[in-house]
Amino acid sequence: MNSSKGEWGSNFGFLMAAVGSAVGLGNLWGFPYKMGMNGGFAFLLFYLILAVLVGYVIMLGELTIGRSTGKGVIAAYSSLSKKYAFLGWMAFLCPILILAFYCSLGGYCLKYTIANLGDFFGASWGVNGVDTAEYFVNFYTNGLEASIFAVIFSIITVIIVMRGVSGGIEKFSKVAMPALFVLLLVVIVRGVTLPGAIGGLKFMFAPNWEVFNGSGWVSVLATAGGQMFFSLSLGMGCIITYGAYLSKKENIEVNALIIPFADTVVAIMAGLAVFPAVFAMGMEPAGGPGLLFITLQAVFDAMGAAGPIFGFLLYLLVFIAALTSSISLMEVVVSVIIDRKEEKGCVANRKNISVIFGLILCVLTILISVDSLGEGGLPKLLGFCWLDFFDLLSEGIMMPVGALLMSLIIGWKLGENWMREELCQEGNQWKMAKFSMFCLKFIAPVGMAMILLGQLDGFFKLGIFS
Ligand code: PHE
Repeated sequence: MNSSKGEWGSNFGFLMAAVGSAVGLGNLWGFPYKMGMNGGFAFLLFYLILAVLVGYVIMLGELTIGRSTGKGVIAAYSSLSKKYAFLGWMAFLCPILILAFYCSLGGYCLKYTIANLGDFFGASWGVNGVDTAEYFVNFYTNGLEASIFAVIFSIITVIIVMRGVSGGIEKFSKVAMPALFVLLLVVIVRGVTLPGAIGGLKFMFAPNWEVFNGSGWVSVLATAGGQMFFSLSLGMGCIITYGAYLSKKENIEVNALIIPFADTVVAIMAGLAVFPAVFAMGMEPAGGPGLLFITLQAVFDAMGAAGPIFGFLLYLLVFIAALTSSISLMEVVVSVIIDRKEEKGCVANRKNISVIFGLILCVLTILISVDSLGEGGLPKLLGFCWLDFFDLLSEGIMMPVGALLMSLIIGWKLGENWMREELCQEGNQWKMAKFSMFCLKFIAPVGMAMILLGQLDGFFKLGIFS
């Protein structure tokens, strides 16, 4: 354990931070919209199976690598073997790419939180009944406004990370995550008590095997898998980095179970916050990525006087969720730089490192924001808009490759005894060793290879799974 970087004050604090990393736009936006486009129940079923057989064991492996090495990702992988250093580099670059678009999208959430507040006060800066598709386009094609919100979001991220592991990240997560949970409950209660909400519940939970008539289920499986590992923050440095700050007395196995469980509960709750209301207002569940900013805003507009309040609460909670994820992304970068400084015998100053990286982040997120989802006139990158290109490199390639190789390394190279040594510190036991090793050796690599293909298929429209 590298004490100069800090350590979690308590296991609860660690859990709130790790669940905070996992719960983000992926849960509150990606999960409902992908579920909406992929047949509802079948998607949920595949998601749950993959979370148990693939997500859980990769989480276990990453936490173990983190705690056993006590280092940031580059030093962590290099200390296992020099041959694995490139994996550390990938896990270091990946969060930078994700942060660039995550802060831009976090800025969108901030904008919508404020706009709903504006509606509440009847102010000119509200949505004011403008057609929600038009409102959304007007916002994101305004590069200056989108950049301002993205920069505000980035600055808040920097301020929290700058304050350190227990004094910044943990302190914020311990308040933010329970608050997020309560806000989500309030929005769900409103949604499921609207007349007609039952349609949304049926859509999510009534067994529906339609996708199994034909080959469509393979694509649903791959989409659910892609969603699952992004949602759990796997395959890049976050979980390894957070694991490095965990005390040896804590039980990694139990923590590795709680994080995916909590993440999945929140994803399902996000579905409950969205679909009953969408059905009650007679809107389309398969609205795609527009679900969060177009369909849901229309739902709030249609709710009458209470709409702006629930709109405000929903976008506020998405904003908080995005923030606890972005701080985990930034911490990966900061911890690597601290390692580097210390290797050179320098005293690492977390504040300076955070501010300097924050400036780089602002430049990147402004680029994404002024590209306006491809409509801002910046050159296309391999035919993609900037956000999609950054997403392709990170979520599409580096994350699945990272998770695939990590499961192979633990399953076949480091092995059960290496895992046991770290998991069974200070009297802890490893109860599901056989199951976990079997999954790490066989199921996770095959699952991740399929997910990787699914991601490439999705980005390049290769038609492999259709
Ligand atoms: N898990 C986060 C989400 O669901 C995204 C994320 C990915 C955060 C990777 C950190 C690392 O939105």
